[in-house]
Amino acid sequence: MSAPILRSVAALREATDPWIRAGERIGVVPTMGALHDGHLSLVAAAEKVCDRVIVTIFVNPRQFGNAEDLDSYPRTEAEDARKLSRFAVDGLFVPDVCEMYPEGFATTVSVAGLTEVMDGVHRPGHFEGVATVVAKLFNQTSATDAFFGEKDFQQLQVVRRMARDLNLPVTVHGCPTIREIDGLAMSSRNLLLSDRARTRAPVLFEAMETIAEGVAAGGDFDALHAEALKRLDAAGFTKVDYLEMRAADDLTLLSAPIRPARLFAAAWLAGVRLIDNIAVGG
Ligand code: PAF
Repeated sequence: MSAPILRSVAALREATDPWIRAGERIGVVPTMGALHDGHLSLVAAAEKVCDRVIVTIFVNPRQFGNAEDLDSYPRTEAEDARKLSRFAVDGLFVPDVCEMYPEGFATTVSVAGLTEVMDGVHRPGHFEGVATVVAKLFNQTSATDAFFGEKDFQQLQVVRRMARDLNLPVTVHGCPTIREIDGLAMSSRNLLLSDRARTRAPVLFEAMETIAEGVAAGGDFDALHAEALKRLDAAGFTKVDYLEMRAADDLTLLSAPIRPARLFAAAWLAGVRLIDNIAVGG
């Protein structure tokens, strides 16, 4: 059954008021649409633990660095609604930009530390945009629980930090990355890859796996890193923004997995920026 599409905060509140009065557990799955199986796994996780599930679709201009990237972001609302119809979604919140950022909007949520590395450096202002919109979505939906993919691991840690620091009464759940059969992490941006680029894209995950396995077996990070860069270059990746090992909790840079660690990468292939991350040593 199709979930009602709610386009205003007023309509959303009308839907959630009775659920809140009944003390129900409300799960939110924030998305920018172009839904794939990764998003649907978050909806399935929300369904399991919550009485009510709200999926939000909002291509948030405040987290994009340039207008071109924002304009080319895929928008597939009708198809998204169809994909969600097999889940028990209670509301699909699809506000427009004026609803989210009305005239005079002047507030930004900024998280220090975790946002000063990786995508925080390569996409200035990105995490302020994310934290601001996610704080708003938490408040608008009155969510008790929120579901985010580990695919955007830095984002997940930033949202967790924000929820903790601002005492937001929301439990943030991180859900595993869902991959295509060839290993490529599912992402709405994969739709932007040409057929040729799509066949080469899994090399990012393969190169990361080689480093993670090598390091976990005691190998030298720098040597493995240099080999991975060569492999990416040979596969047609034009630029690697970062390929780094960091502590899973506070994202401190590591050269050996002396604490629970993850490998993080962002790299460009045929004009599309792909990001991925994997655990080191399981
Ligand atoms: O991960 C995303 O799709 C977005 O960053 C989010 C969390 C929906 C905020 O716009």
